[in-house]
Amino acid sequence: MKAASRRIESAQTAPHDDLVRRVERARESVWQRPPAAHTLDAFADAERWLAEAGRPLILDAGCGVGLSTRQLAERYPEHAVIGVDRSEDRLGRDHGPLPDNARLVRADLVDFWRLARAADWRPRRHYLLYPNPYPKRAQLKKRWQGHPVFPTLIALGGRLELRTNWEVYAREFALAVSTLVGREAPVEAFTPGDAYLTPFERKYAESGQTLWRYRIGLDAVPESS
Ligand SMILES: C[S@@+](CC[C@H](N)C(=O)[O-])C[C@H]1O[C@@H](n2cnc3c(N)ncnc32)[C@H](O)[C@@H]1O
Repeated sequence: MKAASRRIESAQTAPHDDLVRRVERARESVWQRPPAAHTLDAFADAERWLAEAGRPLILDAGCGVGLSTRQLAERYPEHAVIGVDRSEDRLGRDHGPLPDNARLVRADLVDFWRLARAADWRPRRHYLLYPNPYPKRAQLKKRWQGHPVFPTLIALGGRLELRTNWEVYAREFALAVSTLVGREAPVEAFTPGDAYLTPFERKYAESGQTLWRYRIGLDAVPESS
């Protein structure tokens, strides 16, 4: 029997009081650090594959072992689905052959998103499924909504979907998006039924935890980085 997954424990019960300032500062910041060579190579491969596929893109950011990438490729056969994760170990776990319209890429998302923006990628859908929560107050800058790359991932546009088992993460994420685009969308509890999109989703749901979802249709918005 698998051990139950523990609920997030955090001193934070609401969005961090420094979030909006950080998001606004990130919007003004300029990308200084050049991308790592291995991410440049990974991006170039992904770009070739996408051009050959000739289909609209779906991004699965932080795809872990890639089960969601597979499922999304099956659900959207007319799209090209790219799953990105930095963990070689997770990506390397064998879950059988990938559908032709799916690709797993090992890369750091911070650089990958910036390269995607520079190349004017326009994902139709963009998933962030159960990102690492970093629940300590001092870890705000590690959460995507507190990270300097956040305006870049929002500027990619498309239908963005975040899933998390920590309500505060979803509410912070929603606040960060509305700070940038001036529009709001609901944060909602949801039940995936038996159709788990990812292993983390399964683990949290089977432990009786509430799952949270935030979805918004983004228009491409300019950012300075
Ligand atoms: C909690 S796991 C969730 C994995 C998967 N989405 C799921 O739900 O099963 C978070 C994933 O994000 C990846 N990740 C975190 N930071 C990343 C970064 N900067 N670049 C790429 N992947 C990252 C980790 O390697 C990990 O696989």
